[in-house]
Amino acid sequence: MTAHSSKTVLSLDSEAVLSLKDGINFKKSPDDAKCYIIYKENGELKACKNQCKHQGGLFIKDIEDLDGRTVRCTKHFWKLNVSTMQYVNPPDSFTQDELDVVMTDEGGLQLVEVIVWDPWLADPQDPQELQEGEVTVSTSRHTPHTHGWTDLRPFPVGKTGCNYIMTSW
Ligand code: FES
Repeated sequence: MTAHSSKTVLSLDSEAVLSLKDGINFKKSPDDAKCYIIYKENGELKACKNQCKHQGGLFIKDIEDLDGRTVRCTKHFWKLNVSTMQYVNPPDSFTQDELDVVMTDEGGLQLVEVIVWDPWLADPQDPQELQEGEVTVSTSRHTPHTHGWTDLRPFPVGKTGCNYIMTSW
């Protein structure tokens, strides 16, 4: 069993690195057309996939962001501060997974994704029938007043109940 592996998802040569501007840079891999965001501030670089954590939407520049640190998802308008990798809308919610930025001896850089070993993918099991009362599922309701999760209500799942949970904001 291997705990983690990694792969280089984007390489930039020294010329491309020198052309990175302060703030947000959108880059596309010429190999597979996948998109990435590189944020530069005081010579330091942060990077992530250009892929929203909600449902995989593409980020674009947020024209309401005067600091030049926030991108906006084109699907449902979630916002991500790429200087902190924290989603700011919805507030206090998710953190974007960062890519490692590795500088090469030639002055280029590589964005490296760490791939966490997933036992569900490595050793998939056949679905099994749930028995009546075997599982209890809790639901929750988001209230606009507190921006918190409240009102937990367990209910039994049986043959006539749902066998999966869908979460949504
Ligand atoms: S996919 Fe980004 S907000 Fe829904």
